[in-house]
Amino acid sequence: MSAAAVASAKIRVAGVFKSFRTKKETVDVLEGVDLDVRPQEFLAIVGPSGCGKSTLLNCIAGFEQLTKGSIEIDGERVRKPSRKRVFVFQETGIFPWLTVRDNIGFGLGDLEPGARDEVVARYVALVGLQGFEKAYPAELSGGMKQRVEFARALAVESDVLYLDEPFGALDAFTRLEMRREIARIWKATGKTCLLVTHDVEEAVELADRIAVMTRRPARIERILENPLPRPRDPDDTGFRELKDQIFDILGVERRV
Ligand SMILES: Nc1ncnc2c1ncn2[C@@H]1O[C@H](COP(=O)(O)OP(=O)(O)O)[C@@H](O)[C@H]1O
Ligand SMILES: [Mg+2]
Repeated sequence: MSAAAVASAKIRVAGVFKSFRTKKETVDVLEGVDLDVRPQEFLAIVGPSGCGKSTLLNCIAGFEQLTKGSIEIDGERVRKPSRKRVFVFQETGIFPWLTVRDNIGFGLGDLEPGARDEVVARYVALVGLQGFEKAYPAELSGGMKQRVEFARALAVESDVLYLDEPFGALDAFTRLEMRREIARIWKATGKTCLLVTHDVEEAVELADRIAVMTRRPARIERILENPLPRPRDPDDTGFRELKDQIFDILGVERRV
């Protein structure tokens, strides 16, 4: 890799190893992961279940210590968690006892109330929840709760959005709807987006590039460019070809 490419990476994962030591054994999960994420790109990380996708995302966000290697964001070593690195998970993490407005503003404790209200209002509008500011999560549909999660992650104004299987708990229709939504939000905000998923179609619909992981202990097997114009149609030939290519890479890996 050239020096310029290194300097322009938003996130740089270099030679990362991660093992978990339990009472009984040591589990080697990541084994030499290298990955450069470009500024403002939408990068999907796909791989078999249990291969270490969430572990990698947790390492990038500073929630896990590395066994070996380094991770930099904007040229700075990631060493610990930051309030700015908020995840969107499969299982909703919003607080049932807080309103939509207070959930979205949860990470904004440092701001003056006026400034906080302004940020909250901006993201309420961006995710389309106007009129529901005072509602509690129990009054919302699954898709609306997901929108609250997105808004909360966006409100901390981090320039990286971390998505770990964010659509897994939604019904099929809402899932498709939220895919469209995240594509729109990503475009509107210009953030760098890291999406972990085992859903190859989701990755091809959303990502600029798709990193395919091997089984555990995992490396990045291949990184594929996704040149398909947006919005993308899963029935297009190009879409299906890219999907098949990824399944081939995953399939080859499964036969090893
Ligand atoms: N805190 C932990 N302690 C021990 N093992 C862990 C821990 N976190 C994850 N693992 C193990 O690491 C492997 C990868 O897990 P994970 O990153 O969640 O996979 P994925 O997200 O790809 O499904 C699994 O075998 C899991 O059991
Ligand atoms: Mg996972």
